[in-house]
Amino acid sequence: MSASFLGSFVAGQELPASDAPQIAFLGRSNVGKSSLINLITGGNSARTSKTPGRTQTLNLYRTDHGSIFGDFPGYGFAKVSKTDRKQWEMLIESFLRTEYFDYAIHIIDARHIGMESDLSLNDWLNHRGMDHLIVLNKVDKLNQKEKAEAGREAQRAFPGQPLLFASSVTREGKRELEKILRTIAAPSEALR
Ligand code: GTP
Ligand code: MG
Repeated sequence: MSASFLGSFVAGQELPASDAPQIAFLGRSNVGKSSLINLITGGNSARTSKTPGRTQTLNLYRTDHGSIFGDFPGYGFAKVSKTDRKQWEMLIESFLRTEYFDYAIHIIDARHIGMESDLSLNDWLNHRGMDHLIVLNKVDKLNQKEKAEAGREAQRAFPGQPLLFASSVTREGKRELEKILRTIAAPSEALR
């Protein structure tokens, strides 16, 4: 699927109306949220960087399936000031609270499963009743044994939650993720 940039938004700004589902891409700083959006949309519209904390606004993209992807700023980046961190948290929370987003893709570094901030985001999404998929990303960094262990750890940390391995480097998980995103965008298609 392809996507075009809709704009960057800060807390309090009104988000563009849409009939199609809005999907939030969430996760710690530097886990590869923007890279994953680029992988799925076959472009490089989402800005990525070697410097953690690159995405500092909520960036929206409209896909050719009508759905909207929200590329969120990453949380949990240690090197920012307390004030900045607070601002980020407020931005993330305020956008999640608006009920604008229908579904979340929660991206986790497959090498660091069970981090406090990821557990609390997962709890928060469950509490809110927002369906979400956990993507265990950067799996190219793991060997087969480590990958199997990461899968078991994730099942323990996020019981009952759907999980998917992915990598923007090897493109692992791309087709499965596309299929899931397409199904969210057009649920009726899944029934045909
Ligand atoms: P913030 O916007 O800062 O929260 O980061 P992000 O989650 O959007 O991450 P981004 O896509 O900018 O990627 C961060 C770094 O990780 C970049 O150097 C990417 O090249 C690298 N990266 C992203 N995905 C993968 C992956 O699947 N495997 C590996 N090995 N590196 C990746
Ligand atoms: Mg980013």
